Order: sequence, then C-alpha cells, then structure tokens
Amino acid sequence: MIPSLVYLLPLYPLAVQAALEVDLNSTESIKRAAAQVAEDLLTYYHGDEPGQIPGILPGPPPGGGDYYWWEGGAMWGALLDYWHWTGDGTYNNLSYQALLWQAGPNRDFVDKNWSFSLGNDDQAFWAMSALIAAETKFEDPPPDQPQWLALAQAAFVAIANGCFFNMGARLARYTKNDTYLDWSIRTWDWLVAVKYIDDDWNVYDGADISNNCTIIVKQQFSYNAAILLQGAAYLYNYTSDQIWLDRINGLLDGIERVFFVKGVAYEPACEGGCGFHWTSGKFDGLLGAGQQMDVLGALSSLLIMDAPVAVTNDTGGTSVGNPDAGAEKPTYSELGPITMGDRAGAGIVTVVAISLAITSLWWMIK
Ligand SMILES: *[C@@H]1O[C@H](CO)[C@@H](O)[C@H](O)[C@H]1NC(C)=O
Ligand SMILES: *[C@@H]1O[C@H](CO)[C@@H](O)[C@H](O)[C@H]1NC(C)=O
Ligand SMILES: *[C@@H]1O[C@H](CO)[C@@H](O)[C@H](O)[C@H]1NC(C)=O
Ligand SMILES: *[C@@H]1O[C@H](CO)[C@@H](O)[C@H](O)[C@H]1NC(C)=O
Ligand SMILES: *[C@@H]1O[C@H](CO)[C@@H](O)[C@H](O)[C@H]1NC(C)=O
Ligand SMILES: *[C@@H]1O[C@H](CO)[C@@H](O)[C@H](O)[C@H]1NC(C)=O
Ligand SMILES: *[C@@H]1O[C@H](CO)[C@@H](O)[C@H](O)[C@H]1NC(C)=O
Repeated sequence: MIPSLVYLLPLYPLAVQAALEVDLNSTESIKRAAAQVAEDLLTYYHGDEPGQIPGILPGPPPGGGDYYWWEGGAMWGALLDYWHWTGDGTYNNLSYQALLWQAGPNRDFVDKNWSFSLGNDDQAFWAMSALIAAETKFEDPPPDQPQWLALAQAAFVAIANGCFFNMGARLARYTKNDTYLDWSIRTWDWLVAVKYIDDDWNVYDGADISNNCTIIVKQQFSYNAAILLQGAAYLYNYTSDQIWLDRINGLLDGIERVFFVKGVAYEPACEGGCGFHWTSGKFDGLLGAGQQMDVLGALSSLLIMDAPVAVTNDTGGTSVGNPDAGAEKPTYSELGPITMGDRAGAGIVTVVAISLAITSLWWMIK
C-alpha cells in the first residue's frame, strides 16, 4: 500500500502534503517558506494560459469561479510586496502584465468586463497595487502604456473613504502635492465626525444606505483599520506632525484589542465561516488563494526591516504621474446595497491588509 500512497501524494496541493516549517530567526528560512507559499498561491492563477484573461483569479462567483475581480488586484499587490521584501522577482513579469491588462481603456482600473461587480473599493485594490509599484520602483511601462503613478491618480477620484484617505496620504508623500494631503485630512475628519472612527479607536465598516447612513454598521474588519493605519503612517512620515503619530498609536491600540487575541491575528467578523482560524492553532482544511495571500503577507512582511523604504518622486521614484488623470470622467455608477456575500468576500484579504499596513508602519518608524 505504501508505494501507491506515495504515488498519490503529488496529486494533492502542496499545502496539504506538509506543514510549513519556518525558523522565524532565519531570513533564509522565511524566504524559503514564503517562496513555497507564493508558488502555491500561483497555482490558483490561470490568467497567463491561452484563452484566459490576464490579471484575474477564476471568477466571479457564483458561476465563473471563486474569486471576485478585486482579489486579483490584491494578489498582485501581495506579490509586489513579496518581491520588494524578499528580492525574489519570479512573478514580476506576471504582475506587470496583469496590472497593465486590467488598467482598462481609460487607464483607471475600470473595465466594462467587471462593471457589474465593481465597487469603488474594488477598484482601490488595483490602484493601491499600482501605488506599490510606483513606491517600489517596479519596472516602468514604456511611455505609450499606462504608468503606475498615473493609474493610482486616476483611480483616486472615485474610491471609498478609507481607501481615499490611504491613497491621498501616499500620493501626497510621493508627489508632494498638498492637494492630496488636504483631501486626506478632510476625509479623516469626516470619518471621525460621523463616528466611523470612535473615541475608543474602533473603526466601523460604514453605515447602511437603507437608513440614509444614520445607523452605523458596528462590524469591524481589520482591512478598514489597516488602511487607515497605513495612511496615518505615511502622513506622519510626510508631515512629521505629532497629531498623526498620536493617531497611529490610537489605531494600534484599537487594532491590538479588536484584531489580535493573545497575540494571534483574529478577524471577528469572519471567524465563523471563512477558513481563517489562526487562533485555534488547527488547520480547518480549507484552501484558497485568499488563505495563501494571508500566509504570504504574514511571512514576507517579516523581512520588511531589511527592505528598501518606499521611494517618492524626490528619492529615486521614476513613475510618471498625471495629476489630472481621471478628473474629467466620473467612472462609477450607482451601486446596489452591499450584501453579506460581498462582505464575506471582503474579509478574505483583511489579514493580508493588516499585515501589510502594520509592516508599512514598521519601516516608517524604523
Ligand atoms: C530566536 O532568537 C531569540 C533571541 O535571539 C531566541 O531567544 C530564540 O530562542 C530563538 N528561537 C529559535 C526558534 O531559534
Ligand atoms: C520580464 O522578463 C524580461 C526578460 O527576462 C525582463 O527583461 C523584464 O525586465 C521582466 N519584466 C519585469 C517587470 O520584471
Ligand atoms: C474582457 O473580456 C474579454 C472577453 O472575455 C477578454 O478578451 C479581455 O481580455 C477582458 N479584458 C479585461 C480587462 O478583463
Ligand atoms: C438623508 O440625509 C440627508 C442629509 O442629512 C437629508 O438631506 C435627507 O433628507 C435624508 N433623507 C431621508 C430619506 O431621510
Ligand atoms: C520618513 O521616512 C524616512 C525613510 O525611512 C525616514 O528617514 C524619516 O525619518 C521618516 N520621517 C519621519 C517623520 O518619521
Ligand atoms: C518628479 O521628479 C522629476 C525629476 O526627477 C521632475 O522632473 C518632476 O517634475 C517631478 N514631478 C513632480 C510631480 O514633482
Ligand atoms: C495637485 O493635485 C491636484 C489633484 O489631482 C491637481 O489638480 C493639481 O494640478 C496638482 N498640482 C500640481 C502642482 O501638480
């Protein structure tokens, strides 16, 4: 029996065959484990195969596959970070092709293929990945192609509040254009005024439009707190203003209280059914690109202290922007109410988001 068992094993995904062993004190061991996870993640991607669409994971649900359009955007961001932090450029050509393919006809990450499932924070996942490309000096496309910075600037006009704050902060730091700073400050003040950020540093998901946005949805997703934390870190780095350091510390207190249980990442809104139970110490048998992204983010971000800091236009950045990009054309139409299904989808990369945001903070203050 044993030989046939051995023969069968390679048919299963690698993650099932063996637990991942990592010596967290060893850079080489972390890199090896992260490389394995990245390889496993890419087994979910088929956009580079004949007849497939570059950039996207199989989807959208329910008929087309398990993944929404935005999850592809999140994956390329995670892989750019992986490259930046580990130095392993194995997936750079795929990432480059994916981001350019999905830029869309107006170069703002809106394509009619995905318009039915395109909320404005979905677009932001792609735009934030383009910003990572600018900040990490990822290979610039030729001049006739969309440029990373200009893509982010184009999408900036049309995205949800938290993402708007985050991207405004990063665009301000990259371009030194204080219009972006002003927008970020106004957005923060608004989030506090409507109590989406409360006095105890809880960060709520939003409000239900069926109640005219008066009743706050008291659900918390680490993704929301994390993009604010990352934005606040960029603004502190850009402005050196103590107020942002205080806000960073406040957000960190809230994040630690809500999203870490005894030091382990915990996603209160999703622990019931999404396959992410890090606090239990047991593998629940559920596999997917989201799970791989979580682990990839957690592992590769351990190396951030040794990675080069995110550049700006003045410190070696080469991505060419266009401050007017996206300004003439409102690109999004009215959206239906967000459903539980959408929220569950959103939970999938929240752990990734939080690990990315926390690590951004690390290099900001290092
Ligand atoms: C990692 O390093 C720390 C301090 O250098 C040490 O206390 C710890 O035992 C090490 N852990 C492992 C697994 O080697
Ligand atoms: C893609 O691969 C080619 C050939 O190896 C290389 O010249 C180019 O720089 C790569 N592009 C990226 C974005 O890494
Ligand atoms: C849109 O869909 C068409 C038809 O499937 C495909 O050829 C094209 O690559 C898609 N474009 C994007 C940006 O997804
Ligand atoms: C919703 O709130 C706005 C702003 O406060 C107000 O002008 C509008 O009348 C409200 N609509 C409903 C249906 O309550
Ligand atoms: C901003 O980041 C740069 C690069 O890491 C660092 O040199 C600088 O001290 C930071 N500024 C602040 C206010 O933290
Ligand atoms: C970015 O830097 C380049 C020189 O490296 C300069 O020509 C350009 O005007 C700068 N762009 C902005 C928006 O400051
Ligand atoms: C700064 O950004 C704003 C918003 O995109 C733009 O309208 C303005 O022209 C930019 N200013 C400069 C000096 O580039």
